[in-house]
Amino acid sequence: MPPESTEVQVSAGTEADLDALTDLYNHYVRDTPITFDTAVFTPEERRPWLLSHLKDGRHPLLVARDPATDRLLGYATASPFRPKAAYATSVEVTVYCAPDAAGRGVGTLLYEALFAALDGQDLHRAYAGIALPNEASARLHARFGFRLVGTYREVGRKFGRYWDVAWYEKDLGPGAEADYDRD
Ligand SMILES: CC(C)(COP(=O)(O)OP(=O)(O)OC[C@H]1O[C@@H](n2cnc3c(N)ncnc32)[C@H](O)[C@@H]1OP(=O)(O)O)[C@@H](O)C(=O)NCCC(=O)NCCS
Repeated sequence: MPPESTEVQVSAGTEADLDALTDLYNHYVRDTPITFDTAVFTPEERRPWLLSHLKDGRHPLLVARDPATDRLLGYATASPFRPKAAYATSVEVTVYCAPDAAGRGVGTLLYEALFAALDGQDLHRAYAGIALPNEASARLHARFGFRLVGTYREVGRKFGRYWDVAWYEKDLGPGAEADYDRD
């Protein structure tokens, strides 16, 4: 059983996490429409993704672990939103928990750490695309101040059917509200 979220440790991801990160992500590739990747990755195929998040502070990879077992419970990333230069002040964020660690506050811990890491970077907007339906993700993003921008209808096909993606936006940097809703 995963620990209570108060015991979970969040830290920067490293190359030593590659196998566990690949395993966790492959679950969502193989069994869900949550990611639009359709073929599972080997760790070597996934390595460029991991390395791209170790290059600079604007695009971090954070991991959550169970300190008792060192098991990976989840991760969050910020990635370049689009490659063209003027998009450099925007990032796309995402977060994945191990299936048995979801709904226990790990996603919230990861996003708290991710947005703390992004604070002070020269960034202006964060975006998140949520394949629908995904109530947990919609609620997590709302909790962190994301606003729904709009929904791309049937933008991806997986498991023989089309899926909608809702795009959410959050302000970053100076002027952004301290908008984590702590209840
Ligand atoms: C989405 C995800 C990252 C959220 O992280 P989490 O640790 O489960 O969420 P938390 O326990 O921190 O709770 C965050 C919010 O989600 C809600 N939530 C969590 N699990 C839920 C569920 N199964 N159904 C509905 N709401 C749920 C919580 O009630 C909370 O809402 P609130 O702020 O309104 O109280 C996690 O569920 C997950 O990894 N899901 C599968 C992968 C995924 O969907 N990733 C996001 C891709 S866009």
